[in-house]
Amino acid sequence: EEERDQEYLFKVVIIGDSAVGKSNLLSRYARNEFNMHSKATIGVEFQTQSMDIDGKEVKAQIWDTAGQERFRAVTSAYYRGAVGALIVYDISRRSTFESVERWLEELNSVKSPRGWGIQDRLGLWSIEFGGVCNWVLGLSFLGSWVASFKWWALVWGVLIGRAHSDTTVARMLVGNKCDLENIRDVSVEEGKKLAEAEGLFFIETSALDSTNVKKAFEIVIREIY
Ligand code: GTP
Ligand code: MG
Repeated sequence: EEERDQEYLFKVVIIGDSAVGKSNLLSRYARNEFNMHSKATIGVEFQTQSMDIDGKEVKAQIWDTAGQERFRAVTSAYYRGAVGALIVYDISRRSTFESVERWLEELNSVKSPRGWGIQDRLGLWSIEFGGVCNWVLGLSFLGSWVASFKWWALVWGVLIGRAHSDTTVARMLVGNKCDLENIRDVSVEEGKKLAEAEGLFFIETSALDSTNVKKAFEIVIREIY
């Protein structure tokens, strides 16, 4: 039982400028709590949340990161291994929307390295093996056969690598504080447009009145699963 659960443990990160409501989105989702006077997060905090998808228990380890500039260097270290991300801005503060691009760059910069995966190494080994065959045994037909495997391995490696780096991260652009309609500073259309351009899901939420909070997390987790 315990082991089967492990298969469905995903790491999800919540990023975005300070005070956009990241911690409150998580506390609303995980504990149905909201804090009007919450303190800025220091470093990172995480919470494991289970949900049921098609009768299977899926666990998400959700990392709430600090948005403050002085924690940048620390928090980005925690993006590694994340398969889902919520990039949050505050619809009542345009500057937080303008930062989204920067957060995306940061997220991309720590993606799992491309290239030298097992496939590439297989390719290298096979060409070495082919060379040894040629040299020692004079079996040139065997050597060239093995060496040709290298190219297949490389092509395969590149394709797999690309597929992974493009699709493993389910990313959601989240416009939070949609309850503040009267002081809205970023339109829904702008949010949608940016999400479309960057290939992100998009949703507007309110941790205060619970609008779409569950949905935001579940779309990401479902997508990963
Ligand atoms: P850092 O930890 O510094 O990165 O900030 P954060 O993004 O975690 O923000 P936090 O959740 O601490 O919320 C900041 C402030 O915004 C708090 O005063 C919250 O009460 C308020 N807040 C969060 N979500 C909402 C929301 O949906 N609507 C409104 N009106 N206020 C919110
Ligand atoms: Mg916080």
